[in-house]
Amino acid sequence: TKRVAILISGGGSNMVKLVESMVGDHPARAVLVGSNDANAAGLKKAAEMGVDTFAVDHRPFKGDREAFQAELLKHLKAAKPDIVCLAGFMRVLTESFVREWDGRMLNIHPSLLPKYKGLHTHARALEAGDTEAGCTVHLVTPALDDGPILGQARVPILPEDDADTLAARVLVQEHKLYPAVLERFARGDTSPLYLG
Ligand code: GAR
Repeated sequence: TKRVAILISGGGSNMVKLVESMVGDHPARAVLVGSNDANAAGLKKAAEMGVDTFAVDHRPFKGDREAFQAELLKHLKAAKPDIVCLAGFMRVLTESFVREWDGRMLNIHPSLLPKYKGLHTHARALEAGDTEAGCTVHLVTPALDDGPILGQARVPILPEDDADTLAARVLVQEHKLYPAVLERFARGDTSPLYLG
């Protein structure tokens, strides 16, 4: 059984779906949930589901990403994860950290990559006049939101959408896509999954 650690920054709705999916004959189990924010609502949800949690506040490190990551790494390594899932983890990770989990770290991003790397993806899709949006699960490489795609789900953009209504529609798909991709990945299947 593969051991999975999940990193979050906020509400952790994707994390909850991942943890809930790893039951029964699933090839993986959730062993740890961590955050850069001790007040992240998701930490409490993880603890309620019986998963160990930790927080490393990035703010005292004052922009020293390497020192912040060294602390993060200590907690992660103690849990010996086979797979690390970023799920709404909003800190940029440097190459040294990414290399630790080469080919074993997944991220979900709320756009149809390679479109709209970075922040404000939904506002940018609307601004561009796109007629569809979606989400992507990919392997994390040192370049931001750039690794090999493991899965993608699409949703229509409706004329009355704003960034919030679009984000909500995409999030529904995130909750389906990420658990589905993780299960395939834990079984050794890295061929991309396309939903919607
Ligand atoms: C999700 O929409 C995720 O795709 C996005 O943050 C949200 C987290 O929600 N991630 C990024 O923007 C990564 N740069 P959640 O905490 O409820 O899962």
